[in-house]
Amino acid sequence: MYTDIIGNPLVLEIGCGTGEELVPLTPLVESQCEVLTGIDVSREMVKVAKSKMPEGTRTQLVVASAFDLPFKERAFDVISCVATLHHLPDLKSALKEMDRVCKEWGTIYIEERFSNKFLDVPNNFLSRFGVHSKQKGSPHELGEGFPLSRLLKESSGFFKIESVEFRDFVGTWMIGRTLRSKKLAKLCFITDKVLSKIPLLRRFCLHVCLKLRKTSTLESQIKRE
Ligand SMILES: C[S@@+](CC[C@H](N)C(=O)[O-])C[C@H]1O[C@@H](n2cnc3c(N)ncnc32)[C@H](O)[C@@H]1O
Repeated sequence: MYTDIIGNPLVLEIGCGTGEELVPLTPLVESQCEVLTGIDVSREMVKVAKSKMPEGTRTQLVVASAFDLPFKERAFDVISCVATLHHLPDLKSALKEMDRVCKEWGTIYIEERFSNKFLDVPNNFLSRFGVHSKQKGSPHELGEGFPLSRLLKESSGFFKIESVEFRDFVGTWMIGRTLRSKKLAKLCFITDKVLSKIPLLRRFCLHVCLKLRKTSTLESQIKRE
């Protein structure tokens, strides 16, 4: 997802959880990033994330809410938000906060579970047995996806949509996270790229990834106000 992070950016992950997405980014801190920042509303999650960070990396992990980020205006070049938006009761307010702390021409990556009838049926079935439980304060079940149309509509009110990628047809995400096999993950990534070109098959992907750009056009400024 972050292959195009170049230069010397300041990176923020919103809803960093236990640092699953941040840890692979830590080499960037040494080579490109000035500092890597993560926030999460859960103290326990932040504690685990801190314990996973390699010794001596310039990261700051903070307990904070996506609705009230403890940072100045235009503080970050890159913002990522993975599998977190579906926990938030007010998507618009979260996007507004992202917009506030993002620099002009900054990049925002959003990854969410794709609302997918093929997977929603077994997920709903599992939730009956308590396998997927509702997180406190969240309007969604944990396994529930986001309708892409809503994600696009709301985010285009703040940012320019640069790309939409359909991912994880063959479990790239699971393979990346559980087996941590770079070779297998690369193979799945290529398979995903091919499958996502076929419109009908898109319905069966697990995740959708948006790349957004904060632009300074008058039109988007009006939308933000
Ligand atoms: C499914 S986890 C994803 C964690 C991480 N991004 C990852 O991919 O592993 C969702 C995270 O969102 C966090 N979260 C929920 N509501 C939040 C809020 N209002 N502000 C910040 N983080 C929040 C939860 O504590 C949880 O760690």
